[in-house]
Amino acid sequence: MDKTFLMQEILRLKQEKNAVILAHYYQNEDIQEIADFIGDSLELAKKAQNTDAAIIVFSGVLFMAETAKILNPNKKVLFPDWEAGCSLADGCDPKDFKTFKAQYPDHVIVTYINCSAEIKTMSDLVCTSANAKKIINSIPENKKIIFAPDQNLGKYLQKETQREMVLWKGSCVVHEAFSLEKLIEIYTKNPTAKIAAHPESETHILKAAHYIGSTSGIINFIKTDPSEIFIVATEAGILHELSKAVPKKTLIPAPSKEDNTCACSECAFMKVNTLEKLYLCLKNESPEMLLSEELRKEALKPIEKMLQLS
Ligand code: 13P
Ligand code: SF4
Repeated sequence: MDKTFLMQEILRLKQEKNAVILAHYYQNEDIQEIADFIGDSLELAKKAQNTDAAIIVFSGVLFMAETAKILNPNKKVLFPDWEAGCSLADGCDPKDFKTFKAQYPDHVIVTYINCSAEIKTMSDLVCTSANAKKIINSIPENKKIIFAPDQNLGKYLQKETQREMVLWKGSCVVHEAFSLEKLIEIYTKNPTAKIAAHPESETHILKAAHYIGSTSGIINFIKTDPSEIFIVATEAGILHELSKAVPKKTLIPAPSKEDNTCACSECAFMKVNTLEKLYLCLKNESPEMLLSEELRKEALKPIEKMLQLS
């Protein structure tokens, strides 16, 4: 379908149906352009909590649309494609997690928002990459912690907060793909560059970084730091917003291990969403995120605690 037609129709339907489009920074450029709001996971959860639109169209991945529904039981939450999963959420099966958790009965369970609603029901607290340190620091020193499902973020938090944690061994396929060797090669050619990395990256990448933070954190760092060249170790979709925010700065996507044809890493889950699928889901009001009230209420508890703390 023609892009101009799709854009016009999405805008028309949005107004007609009193819908709001929330999109993550990893969405493709067209979606970012048509969205009412783009942000990181925390900002999107807050936006979903505060919107007065009747319909939320969530262009991101499943756990994000699920969070929007958990926060808005009376609103219709639509999302473009069921296939938009996440390696972290998919790698933490509720049955296995229940068994894992049972081994540590006296631990506080902190889960990264990149997990299913069912895992959230088994959690004491949820966090995102933007507020993870704050959430961990809110837990009394004498309490032991389980952190799931991202072991890379968990290791980073252990170092930053000096708290011991039992880690679930999950990871993000995109952030684990960065090559330190190639990153050093690029840095050697651009010694004045600053390296900005998402904390889902592996420890050796984080050790090399000048700045570590969420997608919004990375954008703010690159906007405010006086350097002119930046190597960006996160999903490539962020470069769209960055190139608009800092058109004069040079942005180099961090190289991945495998792919020599593409210098950057793309999240295949995020990228299943297209403008056409966005249009169709708004037009047909499907797929719709539906959750049982029992599951929703239980999953809401740790999310509400997080929102109160951040
Ligand atoms: P943010 O918290 O920066 O939005 O990260 C979400 C995510 O999925 C990163 O891979
Ligand atoms: Fe999940 Fe990684 Fe994709 Fe983020 S980039 S949605 S953590 S697979």
